[in-house]
Amino acid sequence: MKTVAIISQKGGAGKTTIALNLAVAAAQFGHQSLVIDIDPQSSAKGWEDLRTEELPVVISSQASRLNALLETARKNGAKLTIIDTAPHSESAALAAARAADLVLIPCRPSLLDLKAITTSIDLAALAKTPALAVLNTVPVRGTLKQEAEAVLQGYGLEILPVHLGHRIAFVHSLTAGQSVLEYEPSGKAAEEIRALYEAVCRSVRWSSLLKPSCS
Ligand SMILES: Nc1ncnc2c1ncn2[C@@H]1O[C@H](COP(=O)(O)OP(=O)(O)OP(=O)(O)O)[C@@H](O)[C@H]1O
Ligand SMILES: [Mg+2]
Repeated sequence: MKTVAIISQKGGAGKTTIALNLAVAAAQFGHQSLVIDIDPQSSAKGWEDLRTEELPVVISSQASRLNALLETARKNGAKLTIIDTAPHSESAALAAARAADLVLIPCRPSLLDLKAITTSIDLAALAKTPALAVLNTVPVRGTLKQEAEAVLQGYGLEILPVHLGHRIAFVHSLTAGQSVLEYEPSGKAAEEIRALYEAVCRSVRWSSLLKPSCS
């Protein structure tokens, strides 16, 4: 089982959006996927309450229960577990980073997000867990993306080669208890999530997660 912690101390960076969409992407490959929601706002759990699909399973939990839950998930055959974290809680984010194989840091290409990201980079380093940044809500036009990439590179943070655009399908799908892969399977947002899932798996060489599974 592989575990990804999605952390960003900045609120609204896209942690929950990315956690849920990646978990559905894994489920569409036939992999048992799980989201552990350690954000007291329980947005991910609230999304699951709107669904009838079996996967991904979403469990609401406290950070202190992470290791025990991950052990149970492993025993029950989970292939990918994604931990969705809260903003402004460094101790919980650190626990998630420590429990994970990979830290994913979503970041909007704005000055405030770029400034706040150093805390997340430090937490991943403290946890000794590899970290990757993903740019979210990137406008189609302009140079914001290039400017943000230059700042992130200056921090020494690896950036995924795939970003998510600012797309209304990300908002509407979550409100409907869906992933963009279910809401608009042939839309641009779905294309971006498939590419993001593949880029994450490739960058950490999780090739088994890129092969369809029947289990
Ligand atoms: N690529 C995108 N395009 C358009 N809207 C987006 C995109 N990503 C996220 N959003 C919207 O931005 C808002 C914040 O996203 P989300 O809840 O995923 O962030 P978060 O980091 O989990 O926030 P919090 O820190 O409060 O947990 C939501 O309304 C979501 O629908
Ligand atoms: Mg959230």
